[in-house]
Amino acid sequence: MTRTHPAWRAVRLFVLMLILLPWMTAAPAAEPNYEGFRKCASCHKSQSQSWKKTGHAKALDLLAPGARSEARRRAKLDPAKDYSKDKDCLGCHVTGLGKEGGYDPEDPGIYLLGVSCESCHGPGGRYQGLHREAAERFDKNRLTTPRQALADAGQDFAFVERCNACHLNYRGSPWKGSKAPYNPFSPELDAKYRFEFDKAVRDAKAMHEHFRLEGAFTGPPLPPFHEELQAKARPIGKGDR
Ligand code: HEC
Ligand code: HEC
Ligand code: HEC
Ligand code: HEC
Repeated sequence: MTRTHPAWRAVRLFVLMLILLPWMTAAPAAEPNYEGFRKCASCHKSQSQSWKKTGHAKALDLLAPGARSEARRRAKLDPAKDYSKDKDCLGCHVTGLGKEGGYDPEDPGIYLLGVSCESCHGPGGRYQGLHREAAERFDKNRLTTPRQALADAGQDFAFVERCNACHLNYRGSPWKGSKAPYNPFSPELDAKYRFEFDKAVRDAKAMHEHFRLEGAFTGPPLPPFHEELQAKARPIGKGDR
């Protein structure tokens, strides 16, 4: 083996730093675009059909005049008012408000209504293409793809901070990310609004039912409850993923 002269090593290190410097000091990459739930639903029919029955899917209806009058009255909101264009409310009742590709009150795409796939799984602009490519590789040659590639492309496997941004964002919340506009329904108003992530995330009636994965993706990261949910998961519908 030939030994490199120390001066050469110094030069190489210097060049390497010049290459890395702009990357190290660059602003963090912007959040990927929101795609809307039609894209996800075109492959994941079983989850989508189940999700459509959840309160999350219908969350925008809660802002219509007259919806949940009693609860509104207790929270000092106007029972008769139409809040469905109110920016103080919309952020937690639609998908990706004000974000690239997300819900726009002036041009409300129907695939961004309610709390949909990307509200929990993260904006799909960069990862959903990887699902398609991984599916092709898996179907053809049984080749798997590391899950880390999805995480790097913005898919969320931890969930908790996304849930917190809606469920723990009330005035006086212990959650450190909380800021206006706040959720008007806090545990102080009624204990039923207390949010316990570990329990809530296992509520398949609020997320969607779980269906057995074939294993196109492998390895970390995965939430601790993944094995548990998969152990009880149902087989996916015919012709579905
Ligand atoms: C072209 C089809 C296609 C599209 C579009 C698509 N997916 Fe997937 N997705 C797949 C396939 C195939 C898998 C692997 C399934 C398996 O292993 O059984 C997968 C896996 C997943 C998984 C499980 C990943 C894991 O932990 O193994 C999630 C969650 C998911 N998709 C959510 C979404 C969401 C949300 C969207 C929309 C932003 C989306 N998918 C768009 C085909 C697609
Ligand atoms: C920071 C997020 C956030 C904002 C902002 C927000 N909400 Fe909500 N809203 C939620 C969450 C989370 C729930 C579910 C409460 C629960 O059951 O834990 C909810 C539930 C509701 C409900 C049903 C309550 C019940 O007990 O049936 C109504 C009605 C509602 N919101 C209306 C509004 C209106 C009107 C506004 C604006 C003035 C608003 N929300 C702003 C997050 C938010
Ligand atoms: C974009 C805002 C938003 C996000 C993100 C969100 N939720 Fe919700 N969630 C809501 C709203 C609004 C409702 C009220 C639906 C209703 O009352 O019909 C709700 C309802 C629920 C309910 C039913 C509550 C009840 O009293 O019946 C559960 C459980 C729940 N969410 C858990 C979660 C979990 C777990 C996550 C994260 C994986 C999450 N949510 C992410 C806004 C959100
Ligand atoms: C309120 C949050 C929430 C919403 C909305 C949501 N999901 Fe999920 N999803 C979850 C959680 C939690 C898991 C379990 C993750 C795990 O086991 O690793 C999951 C798992 C999945 C999986 C893996 C297989 C399974 O069934 O567990 C797929 C695929 C998936 N979701 C697709 C979707 C699609 C498509 C939509 C929209 C039509 C959607 N999800 C909406 C929370 C959500």
